[in-house]
Amino acid sequence: MEKMARFAGELAKEAGRISLERLKKPFDVTYKSSYSDLVTDVDKEVEKFVVNEILAHYPEHGILGEEGTFEKDLSKYETVWIIDPIDGTTNFVHQKQNYCVSIAVYHRKEGVLGVIYDPVRDELFSARKGDGAFLGKARLTIEPVYNLNEALVASSIFLNRRAKEIGLDKAAERLVRACRGLRIFGCAALELAYVACGRLDAYISLNLNPWDYAAGILLVEEAGGFIGRLSGKPIDPFMPSSIVSCNQGLAGSIMETFRG
Ligand code: IPD
Ligand code: CA
Ligand code: CA
Repeated sequence: MEKMARFAGELAKEAGRISLERLKKPFDVTYKSSYSDLVTDVDKEVEKFVVNEILAHYPEHGILGEEGTFEKDLSKYETVWIIDPIDGTTNFVHQKQNYCVSIAVYHRKEGVLGVIYDPVRDELFSARKGDGAFLGKARLTIEPVYNLNEALVASSIFLNRRAKEIGLDKAAERLVRACRGLRIFGCAALELAYVACGRLDAYISLNLNPWDYAAGILLVEEAGGFIGRLSGKPIDPFMPSSIVSCNQGLAGSIMETFRG
């Protein structure tokens, strides 16, 4: 396990270095489902690199990646890596920063390890099941904040068309009005890492995919925080979910806001 964790950390760093290098030259940007859903040739290149490295070291493992580079049926694999080569592609394109690499390993659907690497800040967040969460070598422990008016929250849910359709926009608006401050980073994995290290007290988002939170779940839980679905049900790491992540002190009041 220690070997695999070291490998995953080095892999995330190397993938991050590749994307940083590629920022120095022009790259292709194309739309996926809409003008706000971008993909670049760098996303694909980095995913291919990560997939090849994983298979070179662990040929018996499956891989679920956003760009679909590994095309085999995942149901026959006990151990599956869940990867987002560039989380925050819009930031990558527009800002050349505020993006990250996210890599997680799940064994029989249980999270084993997760790493999130921000190449611009050279920050590696890592967590191993039962062994804690770390930023570099520093152990992360989330301090509880009990009052929303002392909490810094990240969410764009109150702007979300789908939230309006299902009547969640008002609850989200109440929540962000009650908190101390609001931030919108546009990089789900990094926002979960920031909850784990206390830079954010909560992160709430609709319709994320497994690669957006597979590593973040481990980080937040191992740092002692809360992460779950807005519906109150547990997260299936292989299915899309709308999620709430926060310190333990806020979990009750945030979940209540969305239920009532
Ligand atoms: C996106 C980012 C964004 C979140 C979107 C994700 P991508 O991932 O994490 O913050 O709001 O739902 O799709 O496409 O940049 O990897
Ligand atoms: Ca993503
Ligand atoms: Ca991505």
